[in-house]
Amino acid sequence: MKLMAGNSNLPLARAIAGYLEQPLTDAAVRRFADEEVFVEINENVRGEDVFVLQSTSYPCNDNLMELLICIDALRRASAKRITAVVPYFGYARQDRKPGPRTPISAKLVANLITTAGADRVLAVDLHAGQIQGFFDIPTDNLFAAPVMAADIQARYGDKPLMVVSPDVGGVVRARALAKRLDNAPLAIVDKRRDKPGQSEVMNIIGDVKGRACILIDDIIDSGGTLCNAAQALMDAGAASVTAYITHGVLSGAAVARVNSSALKELVITDSILPTEATQASDRIRIITIAPLIGEAVRRIADESSVSSLFD
Ligand code: R5P
Repeated sequence: MKLMAGNSNLPLARAIAGYLEQPLTDAAVRRFADEEVFVEINENVRGEDVFVLQSTSYPCNDNLMELLICIDALRRASAKRITAVVPYFGYARQDRKPGPRTPISAKLVANLITTAGADRVLAVDLHAGQIQGFFDIPTDNLFAAPVMAADIQARYGDKPLMVVSPDVGGVVRARALAKRLDNAPLAIVDKRRDKPGQSEVMNIIGDVKGRACILIDDIIDSGGTLCNAAQALMDAGAASVTAYITHGVLSGAAVARVNSSALKELVITDSILPTEATQASDRIRIITIAPLIGEAVRRIADESSVSSLFD
């Protein structure tokens, strides 16, 4: 087995390599003067089972091209099997046509990865489960929930918990986490705009009074969804609100928004390389999913069960 990394998240790649006690493959993934991506693999990979580690996070188009070109280089170097390990799968939110004459970019990206030469894909908390079906090659979708549940038990296990989905679409994810937390109760933030032009009203389904609320979501991008939900929960009498989010996209002013929000803490994973602002925030904590990904990689290489990681 060999591990190769693009440049999107080298600390995570090194941590996965550390877990597997494997060095990263000697390769140069660099730019020509005009920013074209160039990849050169400096060791033999003929007949090898190769895992390419690359999140397609900001700058998402550059990181996607790096992934595709790494896969192409490996295929032309006669690797036996190539697995694209994409902890954060960008473009995932474009998974359906929201209106006429719009793309389904998640499907296009799946096609690009397959056409480049990937034999398998390994991702974490895909925005929508059906993205697995966009690939006609085996695709494993890992869940960060066990890592989050362990952290929640350690930090908040002695408090009366309430798991909260920040929108109706996230209920399945929230329910799965609640089950791992000894069947903690579940609440839902129901955002409604009764008439166009009216501001959104946040209704809380469930009694959160006095509860330590755990908001769970797959992505925090601008932070709007989460910070508004946190405020609505505090207004409804929650004792505290902590958010656990797999992918800390945190674009633009998101970190500043989190820093001045009603959130006690935002916990994200290291699926995306944190910016300096994220690292500097005393409201944001990062937990690692390197052992989770490393173990899944080991099991794929050994042809053993990946799903039993979540039993
Ligand atoms: C939406 O379906 C996702 O699960 C997230 O809630 C959303 O992407 C978060 O975006 P933002 O932080 O910009 O509100």
